[in-house]
Amino acid sequence: MPDEVHEYQNLKPGNICVDCTLGGAGHALATIQQILPDGILFGIDQDLDAITHAKKILAPFKKNVRLFHDNFIDLPAILNSNGIEGVDSIILDLGFSLNQLKNARRGFSFNKNEPLDMRMDIRNDLTASKIINSYPENELVDIFFKFGEEKFSRRVAKKIVETRKDKDIHTSSELAQIVKMAIPAKNVFSQRIHPATRVFQALRIAVNRELEKLEKFMERVPSLLKKGGRLCVISFHSLEDRIVKQALRKFEEGCTCPKELPVCLCGFIPTMKSVFRKPLIPTRKEIELNPMARSSKLRVGQKL
Ligand SMILES: C[S@@+](CC[C@H](N)C(=O)[O-])C[C@H]1O[C@@H](n2cnc3c(N)ncnc32)[C@H](O)[C@@H]1O
Repeated sequence: MPDEVHEYQNLKPGNICVDCTLGGAGHALATIQQILPDGILFGIDQDLDAITHAKKILAPFKKNVRLFHDNFIDLPAILNSNGIEGVDSIILDLGFSLNQLKNARRGFSFNKNEPLDMRMDIRNDLTASKIINSYPENELVDIFFKFGEEKFSRRVAKKIVETRKDKDIHTSSELAQIVKMAIPAKNVFSQRIHPATRVFQALRIAVNRELEKLEKFMERVPSLLKKGGRLCVISFHSLEDRIVKQALRKFEEGCTCPKELPVCLCGFIPTMKSVFRKPLIPTRKEIELNPMARSSKLRVGQKL
């Protein structure tokens, strides 16, 4: 939904913006063109490949761009060390990029035979291989169920534990095959998605602690925006969308006192409002052009 994001960012020349998830730098490029000649774009990605790529794409606008190989939860520190008190726009386009799926060689795709890594930031210790080969069965069940909403999580975890008794599971195709064998045949053929989709999503979320980081980041958002500044979040599954929706609702409500209390005792006041109630979803045409966008949702909040 690039057009919708740019419409709702509501940018003006001279604005200070943040792209928290640079990826292929498509949103960053469109943003920078709207804030020239004096605006500043802070670009963040935890994947060094994305930063290297963005440096090339954004080279013509070097004066207006600051790039950081970092996790977006560190945005408060980044802004602080650059003397910025508030920004006009923040974008989060969550999940992983097409480049990570196709070229990163880190096992993000069940269609490829790659090492089971799945780290977006290779400086971190935890890999998908470590989880698959060393976590107890009950923790694997939890991960597949909580982060993948996989209804056969027990069967998949059991099959993994059985397999790894003989030898470690090293590659994405080995894992995809194990998942396929664990799921009842009638379900493998009746599903519209690849049988390993949910398990791979769950592992990626666990390796990169995606939901935990998003939750922590959302808590800080009102303190990072100027009055009238906007947050645009594109999420790709219900777990992410729920975190964004609930955080925006909390900012909108302000007071957290029980409804029975005649007066407010907590002192919290509304800090943000949702620009529209229901999330925007992509058009059929956009999904045809970019099938990865099929489950995306856009929510926009504005600082009061
Ligand atoms: C869907 S892609 C972004 C695509 C991008 N908007 C574009 O126009 O090409 C998501 C990117 O966010 C990065 N990412 C995900 N979670 C992150 C986090 N917590 N901190 C920093 N980068 C993150 C990933 O490494 C990936 O490159």
